Amino acid sequence: MSEQKYAISCWPDVDEIYEALNSLIYKPLHPIKREKMKEYLDYFENKCSTSKKLTDRAKKFIPGGVQHNLAFNYPFPIAIEKAKDAYLWDVDGNRYVDFLQAGGPTILGSNYEPVQQKVIELIKDCGPVTGLFHEYELKLAELINRHMPSIELFRMLGSGTESVIGAIRAARTFTGKVKIIKAGGAYHGWSDQMVFGLHVPGTGPMEAHGIPQECYEHTQEFFPDDLDQLRTLLETNENEGGTAAIIVEPVGPESGTRPIPFDYNKKIRELCDEFGALLIFDEVVTGFRVGLDGAQGYFGVKPDLTVFGKAVAGGYPAAGGLGGRHDVMERLAAGLETGKTRAYVGGTLSANPLSCAAGYYSILEIEKTEANIKAGKAGDKLTAGLKELIKKRELPFVAYNQGSICHLETSAVMLMDIRKDAKKMIMEAKPRKHMMEEMGAAFLAEGVITLAGSRLYTSMADTDEVIDEALASFDQVLADIEPVE
Ligand SMILES: Cc1ncc(COP(=O)(O)O)c(C=O)c1O
Repeated sequence: MSEQKYAISCWPDVDEIYEALNSLIYKPLHPIKREKMKEYLDYFENKCSTSKKLTDRAKKFIPGGVQHNLAFNYPFPIAIEKAKDAYLWDVDGNRYVDFLQAGGPTILGSNYEPVQQKVIELIKDCGPVTGLFHEYELKLAELINRHMPSIELFRMLGSGTESVIGAIRAARTFTGKVKIIKAGGAYHGWSDQMVFGLHVPGTGPMEAHGIPQECYEHTQEFFPDDLDQLRTLLETNENEGGTAAIIVEPVGPESGTRPIPFDYNKKIRELCDEFGALLIFDEVVTGFRVGLDGAQGYFGVKPDLTVFGKAVAGGYPAAGGLGGRHDVMERLAAGLETGKTRAYVGGTLSANPLSCAAGYYSILEIEKTEANIKAGKAGDKLTAGLKELIKKRELPFVAYNQGSICHLETSAVMLMDIRKDAKKMIMEAKPRKHMMEEMGAAFLAEGVITLAGSRLYTSMADTDEVIDEALASFDQVLADIEPVE
């Protein structure tokens, strides 16, 4: 048994991170040298030709030729054929260290065999879905409750997005209030109400194309570093239908890309209590990854509702769940007769036996192997290594982590502050985003897949050897950055 209970060995120094990020933002971009970037693009042309053919064909039938927001588009998407433990193999047979980790669900590593076997057994017995109750629904709910006592009742749903919708609906039904407040820059899925203040705080409906204004009329955002603004919103809302809930990612917006002080969640809990709003923790990323009792265990803050996704189905499809206080959650009762004011949620494939069994056995395996703690240690080693490389190369880049959620900011595009310099943001968003794309492509050409060139999830499969291999690849890329003048 490890002495460490959580994947996060030490909460990062948030002031120090922002100081470094602000300095990065106000320096000119430091992209990869042009001749080196050309070599990286040649890698794609020469070594990834089958991916190119496939994704070119896909463009005829699939918008943009790729269906996943986390997939690389630059210079073209890579088609993956095999995934095992810490590695991915593309259709041309190239092997990569996988820090995308499908966006976070695979804490045990990819395609973890003990879970895979249980899933195969289940499929042989009853197929993936029957539409009727299966014991695994109960086993999963009991297991989650054992680890996270705040989850008195639990409903399995199809995705994190759906579960956020359910949480908001339950909060409104229970409180009779209407406004929902989120931290600016946070991601809570792509529902009509939540495509608001995405990526960068203060951007409101900037990305809400195709969404009528009425849909996000009651969604509000606050600048994550300004809890006074949050208080003002709560006060104003008192005369405008009240605040049903505040929803946060407990390690900070965009999976901690925008880190928050340790006592942040506690302060938000206090504000919720003062104003009679529910506190929703979106633990889609942090659930089981930060600790078996989630980020709520780590921070010692009890939310009213918790949203799950990703790891709740162990990396298998239909990964969503919603749990929390009995009196709130009972509003979500399913079945034909309920008699109470009900917050309607559903889904043909929600709570299917396959997802529930995969989630159940994954969580059991995480418990048995301490996978999340091992993943956290790998994240610490990776981040420490990246910091050393940045220092060695005298670069302005910034590396930090919350356990197995690691960040490598090379252009800090999402960290620009609209309050300070909206003009700079408008002028620089595109080139800064492109630099991230280039970094992502370069890392890939050197054998490492990241999330959008700036986030890296580690798993139990990331042994010291895997991290050393990855750091050697990062070093290759960082060796060829335009020098700081
Ligand atoms: C914090 C957070 N909430 C919600 C979601 C949406 O989950 P899903 O992609 O399963 O709809 C995500 C997805 O990345 C997420 O990171």
